[in-house]
Amino acid sequence: MDIRSALRDGITQLEREHVPSAALAAELLLMHTLERDRAWIYAHPEDELDATAREQYFSLIAKRASGVPTQHLTGHQEFWGLDFEVTPDVLIPRPETEHVIEIALERLGIGPDAGSPRRKMEFRIADVGTGSGCIAIALAHELPAAQIIATDISAAALEVARRNAVRHGVASRIDFIECNLLDSLHHQSPHLDLIASNPPYIGRQEAATLPREVREHEPEVALFGGETGTEIYAPLIAQAATLLKPGGILVLELGHNSAKHVSRLLDAPEWTSVAITDDLAGIARVASAQRCSK
Ligand SMILES: C[S@@+](CC[C@H](N)C(=O)[O-])C[C@H]1O[C@@H](n2cnc3c(N)ncnc32)[C@H](O)[C@@H]1O
Repeated sequence: MDIRSALRDGITQLEREHVPSAALAAELLLMHTLERDRAWIYAHPEDELDATAREQYFSLIAKRASGVPTQHLTGHQEFWGLDFEVTPDVLIPRPETEHVIEIALERLGIGPDAGSPRRKMEFRIADVGTGSGCIAIALAHELPAAQIIATDISAAALEVARRNAVRHGVASRIDFIECNLLDSLHHQSPHLDLIASNPPYIGRQEAATLPREVREHEPEVALFGGETGTEIYAPLIAQAATLLKPGGILVLELGHNSAKHVSRLLDAPEWTSVAITDDLAGIARVASAQRCSK
């Protein structure tokens, strides 16, 4: 069987099981099997797959067809142009979370220009619920003098995040801490320039509506923020108000039903310049605010 036929048959099997983005999934699984990039695959449509490669590829296709996410089969997901290891212990980084990075950089006064002098400032940052470490590591990558604390309640997730930090050469600037929200900093005075978080924000009451890939394969602790999904924002915002220094920035990813709830929480004397930003699909996705100077 040649590469073109393998790809076509893989896509057909995935489409039969209604796997979303079937063509992309088949491509990624073939690239993973052959350890080749997309350009190579399309430049060699008539190359034969040997028996081992064929068996491995169609076994991956069968697993994907049964609902296992592609990223759990390849072990990778790209985020902010960086390659992240993912395992079933962490949420697979989503493209919409890149808006958290964009808004954080914008609100810290850092434009897209790589030469911006503010990039080199010694920002003190916390990422709450770091998971794979994607937010902390993307920020560490953009801000070469930043010191970052990345917390998670899951020890297993923190292991993955630590490996990702090593992979991207930023491990010496990120402290990974196992704790609830920012509890381990509770005795500290306001000192942070930025707190960023993509907290669990799906309601347990919505669990049955989630795609099978998500419901059966991603960690519950990364998905559910309580019965309605908004429960984690109030304690997180309260802690942020005590740990951000005056003028410090809070950036929170929002669930599809949390914008009103979070806006109400930020409508308080501690906060100013509150903004809600939509994602590319027009869904309110990120809340950001500044700690008042007084
Ligand atoms: C939606 S995932 C986000 C992961 C990663 N930051 C990202 O954007 O892909 C939420 C993360 O928060 C962690 N988490 C859940 N409850 C937490 C809590 N109370 N305190 C700290 N971390 C928590 C989960 O283990 C999970 O890694």
